[in-house]
Amino acid sequence: MKRFALALCLLASPLWAEAPAGLLPYTDAAAIENGQAIYQAQCAACHGAGLEGEDNWRDRDENGYLPAPPHDETGHTWHHPDTQLFMITKHGTEAIVGNGYKSNMMGFGGILSDQEILEVLAYIKSTWPRRVIAIHNRINQDAMGAAN
Ligand code: HEC
Repeated sequence: MKRFALALCLLASPLWAEAPAGLLPYTDAAAIENGQAIYQAQCAACHGAGLEGEDNWRDRDENGYLPAPPHDETGHTWHHPDTQLFMITKHGTEAIVGNGYKSNMMGFGGILSDQEILEVLAYIKSTWPRRVIAIHNRINQDAMGAAN
């Protein structure tokens, strides 16, 4: 009977259907709440309180720097697997792209713990529509497959 109740519970959970793939605890309410607080304190100034990004975020400024892109579904955060999002947030875009690439996306490795980075990214992911979450899970699965 207990087993049956558990099965029902899993079936009723909408996110379970997409078999969470990857590193981000985006279905964990406590992690999401923490992540939201971190986002507002550390990321919102550039990426926007509502994850909307800066105006004209696709156009580089006169010095060659890109503005902060949105983290909602209109941006391209969800095009990247968890490992890449984690590395960008921890080490900054310049370190990840290399070749003298210039970027205002600094690394947060000295400010946030690995767990906090996962939580802030989990918060971002938790705001995406189910359709986008499902695509992102597939991107994660493909990325993990490619690494094997
Ligand atoms: C000082 C402004 C600033 C702050 C603060 C900031 N970012 Fe960024 N972020 C940027 C800019 C600018 C880019 C685009 C960098 C580029 O491609 O050159 C970016 C890009 C990113 C990307 C890559 C997105 C993509 O689609 O490629 C991620 C992920 C990201 N930021 C996460 C975060 C997180 C998480 C925080 C808070 C912990 C944060 N950022 C705080 C400016 C900022």
